[in-house]
Amino acid sequence: MIVFKYIHDISHYLHSLQQQGKKTGFVPTMGALHQGHISLIESAHTKCDIVISSIFVNPTQFNDPGDFDKYPITIEKDIDMLEKAGCDVLFLPSVKEMYPEGLTDGKQYELGYLELVLDGAYRPGHFQGVCRVVEKLLRIVHPDKMLLGQKDYQQCMVLAKMVETERLKTIIIICPTKREADGLAMSSRNVRLTNAFRAKAPLIYQCLQSIKKEIKPGDISHVKQQAIEKLVAAGFKPDYIEVANAQTLELLHTWDGKTALVALAAVFAGEVRLIDNLVF
Ligand code: PAF
Repeated sequence: MIVFKYIHDISHYLHSLQQQGKKTGFVPTMGALHQGHISLIESAHTKCDIVISSIFVNPTQFNDPGDFDKYPITIEKDIDMLEKAGCDVLFLPSVKEMYPEGLTDGKQYELGYLELVLDGAYRPGHFQGVCRVVEKLLRIVHPDKMLLGQKDYQQCMVLAKMVETERLKTIIIICPTKREADGLAMSSRNVRLTNAFRAKAPLIYQCLQSIKKEIKPGDISHVKQQAIEKLVAAGFKPDYIEVANAQTLELLHTWDGKTALVALAAVFAGEVRLIDNLVF
């Protein structure tokens, strides 16, 4: 695996490969890699000639500076995992390399409704920061395909919108959420859970599964409320448990029995904010 720190060098290298007709797949990450990331690398391998990943803990997408400071950094282990998974190129830029213009006063993206609901509402500015860094990365790497995990359901929708409005040519491929044996969605944040919350954390996915099992056409408020009550009783602090139209993310209070749905959760387990979702 070749590691690049500078935009000029990686651009030059990838440009020559792309001139030779090689198809490139890109997996952007913030490091602290787990099997979920590795599954994206493996999937990229089956679809592309060259697999590129980036590790960059993007300061502009943290609405809470404390969360940024505590974000796990495991760079040596990450490099080892990427190498073993057969990643060909790693981009490892500094903040100065990515943001020579400074962190504030970035470009504003028109995300409309997507920025007003769920994580858009609970994490003001978060998706602007995600778009800002991913647009930069895509303009550096120019991948044919970018692979994203479904765990970040709203992020996938936001980035699809950004790619469309910025007229980028990259095709987004959304890959299934990887879970631990007990159902907890894999996340870089899981290592920060206390033992007690780690033991209870599978309840989040169980609540989403209960929503899927119990939901019936008509009013659906009670299934959401039951999930919230179970989580609160177990000591979690939910930001939201919602059911939305899987295509548009419109939050639903009633269901026609036909519309494809996604149940989404954002829950504080102590100091650690976990998200998960289930499409049905
Ligand atoms: O999902 C993430 O890890 C980040 O939001 C991303 C897409 C790498 C942008 O920093």
